[in-house]
Amino acid sequence: MPATITAISHFLPSDIIDNSYFEKYLDTSDEWIIARTGIKERRFLKEGATSDLIVPAAQKLFKDYNINPEEIDTIIVATVTPDHMFPNTAAVVQHKLGMKNVWGFDISAACSGFLFALRTACSLVESGTSKKVLLCGADKMTSIMDLNDRATAVLFGDGAGVCLIEMSDDPNMGLIDHILHIDGDGGRYLKQIAGGSFKPASHETVDNKEHYIFQDGQNVFKAAVKGMADVSVEIMERNNLTHEDIAYLVPHQANLRIISATADRMGLNPEKVMINIQKFGNTTAATIPICLSEWYSQGKIKKGDNIVLSGFGAGFTWGAILLRWNMNQRGLI
Ligand code: ACO
Repeated sequence: MPATITAISHFLPSDIIDNSYFEKYLDTSDEWIIARTGIKERRFLKEGATSDLIVPAAQKLFKDYNINPEEIDTIIVATVTPDHMFPNTAAVVQHKLGMKNVWGFDISAACSGFLFALRTACSLVESGTSKKVLLCGADKMTSIMDLNDRATAVLFGDGAGVCLIEMSDDPNMGLIDHILHIDGDGGRYLKQIAGGSFKPASHETVDNKEHYIFQDGQNVFKAAVKGMADVSVEIMERNNLTHEDIAYLVPHQANLRIISATADRMGLNPEKVMINIQKFGNTTAATIPICLSEWYSQGKIKKGDNIVLSGFGAGFTWGAILLRWNMNQRGLI
């Protein structure tokens, strides 16, 4: 029996930063940002850490679905902006939410973090190790952004998506298939150079701005277009699905051009593609669960819908997951 998402929620900070914010002090323009990325606005968390994005999303989840947090036995946090290198953010979230009966850990896979963590959470449930997993994809990207670097400052935002993973009540619904990859050769194109054991923090690393996101955008772009489209088509084909069978593609929201290339290769019409990059930018591990939460809360996802989640990020990490949606188990809509 597969595991499945049985509840979903998200949180975005209230501070909206539109492209005119950057036009005031960077050599950039609203036109360039929209044409090259599709982004119009993003949200910045002024105070607090990644756990402060997760906690309100989790509290909303518990309230909306009448979940008793004491029944949750596992917390997984996908993030590249943990509150600390250690302790893990899962422990910080546990403490802030006052949850008593849990263990948990963080997963680092950048923009593929939610996909990797979803597969892991479902495996824990399917093996009987866990019954109820609080799965969180969250990043405070502003904590590692150089706001003076026009090549990266305009791309990212802060946000969190959380969901509950439990055993499905139907053998044909839930997480049906996955294709996940890593290739460390891509590490040179997208990384946080310093702050780990490779290059611990020093005056030099701070002076050289090596704690900020480093990205060779063009090389990442080329790899992302191919990587996301390849796995999305592969997961369709090996499950004998045509574009007509797919209700939605939920792509990682890094660049509208990457999303469009993936949707085109899959033969999907625009209305079958979840896109909110224009409002929130790239929130890294949070983009996919935020999309799912938004669309589900608007009543746009039905039980039985085939949904392909697809992402690409630093590592390189990339992959696709086929979900057959099984909510109504909790009857939100
Ligand atoms: N405003 C104006 N000009 C800019 C800006 C800006 N904000 N940023 C860069 N430029 C300039 C460059 O300096 C360059 O100028 P030049 O031709 O004089 O040298 C020109 O625009 C073109 O730059 P490119 O980097 O080639 O622009 P590109 O079209 O590739 O777009 C972008 C850049 C948006 C970053 C794109 O490469 C991209 O989306 N890459 C992939 C991002 C991604 O998927 N990342 C993975 C997930 S993130 C994660 O895992 C944490």
